Amino acid sequence: MKEIKNIFLKKIDSTNKYAKENLSSFDPKNITCITADFQTMGKGRFDRKWISSKGKNLLTTFYFRLSPSPKNIGSLSLLACLSICKCLEKENLHPKVKWPNDIQLNEKKLGGVLCEAVFSKTYVDIILGIGVNINTTKEELSIIDQPATSLFVLTNNTWDRDKLLADLQKEFAQNLEVFERNGFSAFVSEFDKLLAYKDKTLHFYDGENIFKGHIDSITEDGSLRFYIATTKEIKTFHSGEIVSVE
Ligand code: BTN
Repeated sequence: MKEIKNIFLKKIDSTNKYAKENLSSFDPKNITCITADFQTMGKGRFDRKWISSKGKNLLTTFYFRLSPSPKNIGSLSLLACLSICKCLEKENLHPKVKWPNDIQLNEKKLGGVLCEAVFSKTYVDIILGIGVNINTTKEELSIIDQPATSLFVLTNNTWDRDKLLADLQKEFAQNLEVFERNGFSAFVSEFDKLLAYKDKTLHFYDGENIFKGHIDSITEDGSLRFYIATTKEIKTFHSGEIVSVE
């Protein structure tokens, strides 16, 4: 199993950006985990802002190298989501994943994953950013532009970020070992149980078009098979997002 090397920062623009800028100084055989107390320019998918309050969230980036490169890099987001969910389940919570990268509790966003990659001929460097709202208050969450929640709001308890981080590191490193041997296929059935909106009519945006329909299943490489109501066909998507639920 890969070892974890921790880097803790008080304040940084973005842990993903820091990881990309410092890639060459990290050990590619292990996992470097960069965690910050606060980000001034946290980044979400599609260049959205990731807003967080000082010292109250899990803001972390896992850097590691994969060789050869997996077929679908996006499945690493799913692997991170699955690892987070498993840690929360141990705490008696029942999170769901809004494919491909949102962690939800009570249908509100608790966290998200941003997977970036730097490709070389024989390997790929993965920069896997994870943000989870931990001790954020209702007032602090209200400035987020979508329904969001935190572990504190849900449970009325203050959570230990460092313990959650240590649990997540262990869980993720174990899962990554399986992933490197067998790919995402080993996780499909487990992931399927965590999928949000499985029997709902949805609108899915693939970056070009919006499709109305419902989730059919997850493929062996973590892609989404989506039934399109108008054409009655199933299309496979490697990326995109669920934009609304009927
Ligand atoms: C999303 O839901 O769009 C993904 C959010 C990912 C946020 C995390 S916080 C730590 C890491 N650093 C960043 O700038 N972004 C990710």
